[in-house]
Amino acid sequence: MKTVLSGIRPTGNLHLGNYFGALRNFVSMQNEYNCYFFIADLHSLTTHPTPNNIQGNVKSVLAQYLAAGLDPEKATLYVQSDVPEVIELYLYLNMNAYVGELERCTSFKDKIRQQPQNVNAGLLTYPTLMAADILIHKADFVPVGKDQEQHLEMTRTFGNRFNRMYNHEYFKEPQAFNFGKELVKIPGLNGAGKMGKSEGEGNAIFLNDTPEAIRKKVMKAVTDAGPIAPNQPMNEPIANLFLLMNAVSEQETIAYFQEQYNSCQIRYGDLKKQLAEDMITFVNPFRERINEIMSDEVYLNKVAEIGKEKAKESARKTISEVREIIGFKPY
Ligand code: TRP
Repeated sequence: MKTVLSGIRPTGNLHLGNYFGALRNFVSMQNEYNCYFFIADLHSLTTHPTPNNIQGNVKSVLAQYLAAGLDPEKATLYVQSDVPEVIELYLYLNMNAYVGELERCTSFKDKIRQQPQNVNAGLLTYPTLMAADILIHKADFVPVGKDQEQHLEMTRTFGNRFNRMYNHEYFKEPQAFNFGKELVKIPGLNGAGKMGKSEGEGNAIFLNDTPEAIRKKVMKAVTDAGPIAPNQPMNEPIANLFLLMNAVSEQETIAYFQEQYNSCQIRYGDLKKQLAEDMITFVNPFRERINEIMSDEVYLNKVAEIGKEKAKESARKTISEVREIIGFKPY
């Protein structure tokens, strides 16, 4: 069975974009692959030097994973900082990662623009920590978005360099897992671009949003002046509302509003009301499950504990092999 691995940083709540772009696919993968899904709390230290309530954020992301259908019996769900073997591998990989290539990494260049007052070494070595996450379990596939492909390429570089350095065909090359046409595009509510939590207040619908919050955000979504000719192509904000409907509404509802648009009779207020109600219907079961799981401290701890044990077993094996390859005595 091939190994799949992915991580998510515990920086806030998961939104519909995360669900359709990643989580939903993780849920279907857990039956077919040996899956590791973890919460990258160490990575979050690179942007939040004194993260407030890191434990609470980790717990809530774990609860959201579980509410979305990830099963701790099938997949290994763990917290990155529970597996310090990752940090040891990170150190070894850093010895063969060059400052020049790390500085050229796009995500680093973005980050130093975003936080010029905190250009820390962890930020520079973010890709080696991510490589350690992936190589520690010898993952075959990493389901990630376009923005992470460079990190994955660097992971292959670091793995190959380790192999060459120690003259050992040890690490294999992880590949991006491409969902291809199964990927549903989830735009945000502010008229342009994809749904994101950093795209401003009101752009994203979260899996734990209340009905009132959803209504408020959807009713404020950007629209335009309305079609003036039959079958006119849609402007991006309107096309986006239809894309969102595609994700949560019935086919008939979508066809109805499409027809209203094509005949220039559409009232965007009605469209938004319907979209809000359909989103509420979609999100409600998630919110209820998230709240239920969040209140069950014992269950959450048990899930984290099971994941930690499984992840540690695989990580320990890699570390003892790596130590031996480097030339340290096995412990
Ligand atoms: N860098 C990823 C992100 O920002 C999170 C991440 C950390 C990750 N380690 C990983 C993703 C390993 C995949 C595999 O989304």
